[in-house]
Amino acid sequence: MQAVAVFPASRVVERIDQPEPQIGSPTDVKLRMLEIGICGTDRDIVTFQYGTPPPGQDHLIIGHESLGEVVEIGRAVDQVRPGDLAVLSVRRPCRHGTCFACRAGRPDFCFTGDYTERGIKQLHGYMTEAVVDDQRYVHRVPPELRNVAVLVEPLTIAEKALREVRQVQTRLPWGYPSRPAGGSGYHHKAVVLGAGPVGLLGAMALLHAGFETWVYSRSPDAQRWIELVGALGGVFLPAESVGLTELVGRVDNVDLIFEATGASSLAFAALPYLGTNGVFVFTGVPGRKAAITIDSDRIMRNLVLKNQVVFGTVNADRSAFEAAIADLGAFAQRWPKEVSGLITGKHLIADFRKPLLGHRTGIKDVITFA
Ligand code: BGC
Ligand code: ZN
Repeated sequence: MQAVAVFPASRVVERIDQPEPQIGSPTDVKLRMLEIGICGTDRDIVTFQYGTPPPGQDHLIIGHESLGEVVEIGRAVDQVRPGDLAVLSVRRPCRHGTCFACRAGRPDFCFTGDYTERGIKQLHGYMTEAVVDDQRYVHRVPPELRNVAVLVEPLTIAEKALREVRQVQTRLPWGYPSRPAGGSGYHHKAVVLGAGPVGLLGAMALLHAGFETWVYSRSPDAQRWIELVGALGGVFLPAESVGLTELVGRVDNVDLIFEATGASSLAFAALPYLGTNGVFVFTGVPGRKAAITIDSDRIMRNLVLKNQVVFGTVNADRSAFEAAIADLGAFAQRWPKEVSGLITGKHLIADFRKPLLGHRTGIKDVITFA
């Protein structure tokens, strides 16, 4: 069985041959992988900036954005059946009895940092022909989502973030308005920083939840993004020609900034523009670049005088996967062309090098199996 693995010590990325995994416990599910998405995390791993092989091994099989077909189940499996399509979650709990988060089934909030992540941290990933995992990490997706379900995992990042935004906005005396009312006083004006997969999926989730949404990003091909975001009902503003002051002039009170670039320079430049009672969410993991200067007095003054909340969010729990699967279904009905258009490249596993190591061009590249 072929797989794509990174060997950090010898700085090699290679296709390897692996024995096929077998069902080992009554709650195990075996999947034949159909599509594996590639994201910035994978590109960081294959350039040896991130990622850790399982203890005692010299390599890590990459891939954490999955879509597979169930081919075999253990005798106690009751969540999926052979023939079902499914996506797998990424993070697995740490072993410490004292980690309240992991013991509560929420390794996305792990306290110890000893969580593992398939395809990223100490567990092999999904860029291989077959995978076995416990059914609690397997999420069934309806067959009509076959062509886009590989987008579920990146969408879970936005789903978890939006749930937290809702919780934060509920602290306002008038609560979180559940129905789009539009106009002033609704507090649903969002700016998305970044127009990659997480930014665009986040914009879809925000628009679908009734936010007025602006997507702000550097883009060599602005016209394409103006059309795409416009078709969703949002507005794209290219960072090359529109300054942050002008952006805020258009939005008025920025109730939410959803950061999806992983570029700390843009994020911290935008932070002073967050509106009154606003929420700023970080989702990107930046590489290590030189330190930057920020207007810390202005930021701190705003945080206090404007009741602002800044938080980061990582990974996702079961309910975020369920929300992502439901939302992706809704997006696919509402914006069929735009949703499938997010997947801009499909590559056989033998051709893994181009999408993983080549120059980035499209939105989401996906690995497929012959
Ligand atoms: C993945 C998350 C993971 C995070 C940190 C992201 O690319 O989507 O599941 O928790 O990287 O490793
Ligand atoms: Zn990812």
